[in-house]
Amino acid sequence: MRVPLIAANWKMHKTPAETEEFIARFLVLVPQTTAEILLAPAYPSLDRAGRLLRGTGIALGAQDLHPEARGAYTGAVSAEMLVGCGCRYVLVGHAERRHIFSEPDDLVRRKLQAALAAGLRPVLCVGETLAERRDGATERVLERQLDSGLRDVMPHAIADFVVAYEPVWAIGTGETATAGQAQEAAAWIREWVRDRLGRSTGDAVRILYGGSVNPDNASGLLALADVDGALVGGASLDPSAFARIVLGTGI
Ligand code: PGA
Repeated sequence: MRVPLIAANWKMHKTPAETEEFIARFLVLVPQTTAEILLAPAYPSLDRAGRLLRGTGIALGAQDLHPEARGAYTGAVSAEMLVGCGCRYVLVGHAERRHIFSEPDDLVRRKLQAALAAGLRPVLCVGETLAERRDGATERVLERQLDSGLRDVMPHAIADFVVAYEPVWAIGTGETATAGQAQEAAAWIREWVRDRLGRSTGDAVRILYGGSVNPDNASGLLALADVDGALVGGASLDPSAFARIVLGTGI
C-alpha cells in the first residue's frame, strides 16, 4: 500500500520567521492526516522548521543539495548538513534546477547518490518541456532522466524513493496537466521502474504529480490510479490553501 505524499516546495519564498508562522497556522488547520506531508523550505529556514516539526508527523525536506560531502564549494550545502537540520527528504533535479541553473543529468545522478548515501529520501523530479511534448518526445525525455538518475541505484533503495512527474510547461503557469496526461505519464514511469527494477519495486515507488496543483484540482489528480501524491509550489505558500489541498483529498 503506497502512502500518499503531499509535498510543499516553497522555492525562494519565506524567511525563517514566515516559515514559523506558516507551521503554527498549518498545524491548527491540519492536526492530523493519514497522508504523509512534506515541507521543503529554503535552506535558511530548515533548522528552525526541523525543530518546530519534530514530533508532528510532518516531514522536512530540502529543495536541493551539493553532491560532495564537504569541501571548498562556496555557497553549497551537503546532504549531511540537511540531515543535521532534520531533513528526511530532498528534491533532486527539480525543473528549475535543470533549466534555470543548467544542471545536467549526470549532476542530478551524483546528487541523488549523495542523498541516498546520507540516508535522505530523494524526490527525483522529471518532466518534459512544452516543445518536447509538442514534438512527441515526452517518453524519450522521461526515459533519459529516469535512466540517468536511477542508473546506479539498487532496487531495494527505491522503496524509499519518490519520483515527481512535473511537466515543465505546467510549473507555475496555472496550466495543469489533464487527468489523462498526468495518469498516462505516471503509469509510464511506474511501468519503466517495473521493467528496470522489478515488479515489486515499481509497485512500491511513489509517483507524485506537480505543476499548478491547487485546492480545486488536487483531489482529481490524487484520485488517479498511478498518482500517489502532489508536489505543490505556489499553492503551498498559503497555509489555508495547502491545508485545503491536504484535507480536500480526503486522505
Ligand atoms: P507550482 O510548482 O505548483 O507553482 O506549479 C510546482 C513545483 O515546481 O514543484
